[in-house]
Amino acid sequence: MERIRPPTIVSQRKRQKGMYSPKLSCGYEIKFIKLVIFIMQRKMGMTRRTFLMELARSKGFRVESELSDSVTHIVAENNSYPEVLDWLKGQAVGDSSRFEILDISWLTACMEMGRPVDLEMKYRLVEQAEQYPTLKTPESEVSSFTASKVSQYSCQRKTTLNNYNKKFTDAFEIMAENYEFKENEIFCLEFLRAASVLKSLPFPVTSMKDIQGLPCMGDRVRDIIEEIIEEGESSRAKDVLNDERYKSFKQFTSVFGVGVKTSEKWFRMGLRTVEEVKANKTLKLSKMQRAGFLYYEDLVSCVSKEEADAVSLIVKNTVCTFLPDALVTITGGFRRGKKIGHDIDFLITNPGQREDDELLHKVVNLWKKGLLLYCDIIESTFVKEQIPSRHVDAMDHFQKCFAILKLYQARVDNSSYNMSKKCDMAEVKDWKAIRVDLVITPFEQYAYALLGWTGSRQFGRDLRRYATHERKMMLDNHALYDKRKRVFLKAGSEEEIFAHLGLDYVEPWERNA
Ligand code: CTP
Ligand code: MN
Ligand code: MN
Repeated sequence: MERIRPPTIVSQRKRQKGMYSPKLSCGYEIKFIKLVIFIMQRKMGMTRRTFLMELARSKGFRVESELSDSVTHIVAENNSYPEVLDWLKGQAVGDSSRFEILDISWLTACMEMGRPVDLEMKYRLVEQAEQYPTLKTPESEVSSFTASKVSQYSCQRKTTLNNYNKKFTDAFEIMAENYEFKENEIFCLEFLRAASVLKSLPFPVTSMKDIQGLPCMGDRVRDIIEEIIEEGESSRAKDVLNDERYKSFKQFTSVFGVGVKTSEKWFRMGLRTVEEVKANKTLKLSKMQRAGFLYYEDLVSCVSKEEADAVSLIVKNTVCTFLPDALVTITGGFRRGKKIGHDIDFLITNPGQREDDELLHKVVNLWKKGLLLYCDIIESTFVKEQIPSRHVDAMDHFQKCFAILKLYQARVDNSSYNMSKKCDMAEVKDWKAIRVDLVITPFEQYAYALLGWTGSRQFGRDLRRYATHERKMMLDNHALYDKRKRVFLKAGSEEEIFAHLGLDYVEPWERNA
């Protein structure tokens, strides 16, 4: 069995010795006495937190509901390191260094293994400069690296989830989001492209020398990199995080069905928080937004890989009752190897036959008997031989459905069902609302749809930009059109599309640009 090594925990344990030696937690025996976990509710929601606390306890972990002195490990979801520190400050915690601050993926891994797993770098939320020099990069990767060979297009780079430059890319993404809220597309893209370049580097940037010769490093970007290298953080990104408009837009757009335009309207009306919007009875909300508020807590807490697999079974079973030969594929972030996502994306196609326009309606109708919380079906607007749109972010023309499904948690983990009974927590709801996108595609367009819906969004943008500017071709989720030859290029696989574009193949897990 692996042990938890960091010295901070040992000293923490010594300090507690004799003070407190619990054997039981909420009726469960504590198997791992060395660590005391606290799960942050911020951005996770109460339902999910309760579920995770119970799950961890049932597996022999000691989980405290309060941030007591004995806590050694803090687990957060969708919170950056500065956000956790900020929150701790708010809890009047002076010295946060006594905690291990970990991402939810660590807890998920522990739950999978049924024991504490090592505190690997990937699980830690840390952004201090001194953490980075100790990071080991394989010699081969660094020595074969030449900055001037890095392409400006992310489809010519490999970008895994192993990001050595998170402290920079987090700052860029905050800047980009703020420009998005201001509808300044040019500045927004500038920061997204810069973030994407740094995500593909096989080493952490520690000096300005490291970015010499790299594409997409404009002055605004360089200023921020320089400040982070020198100060450990970016004052401009920090200003954004503290900006009232940004904070409100961030909250508003976290509601399903709410975009920048609606946020702008609410902000102008003087509304500032999600609670204020909820309390305002004069607002006219769309059906989508009403669902967004109704299931807000569940929807802002992310979807795990396990939940995605459980939903995938449901989708496959339902689709196959109507079309036994149908192909159902998970796309989006999960196909790129992400462990969490904001939704689950599915592509459905029927090999060999013409698509059935009624399939999506039949599937949804079946779910209406207890599984469906919301759905919005959009009919296909595809016209044969349609030349791909020039606009990079244009919606595609497939028949699709934006849905919210009810996922019973007993299906994810049977122990949670017994557990809630054991703990006598009758008020614990045994399901979670999950956002699901279903896309129906004709079989001959499947490869293009798969490439488009696998993303990342930035990777897709660059594929289209590359096709247009480097190949005089037009690409979208339906087809690739060669403008010089005036022909559509058929493809039965993603590999063929890359080949048509004269690009080396990039695996889905290398498309996290
Ligand atoms: N996409 C698309 N057309 C849409 C919506 C999405 O082509 N109308 C593509 C996006 O470019 C994206 C992918 O489908 O790359 C999945 O979209 P989304 O679910 O928004 O993003 P993910 O990468 O899956 O991220 P997350 O984990 O947050 O869901
Ligand atoms: Mn997704
Ligand atoms: Mn989606």
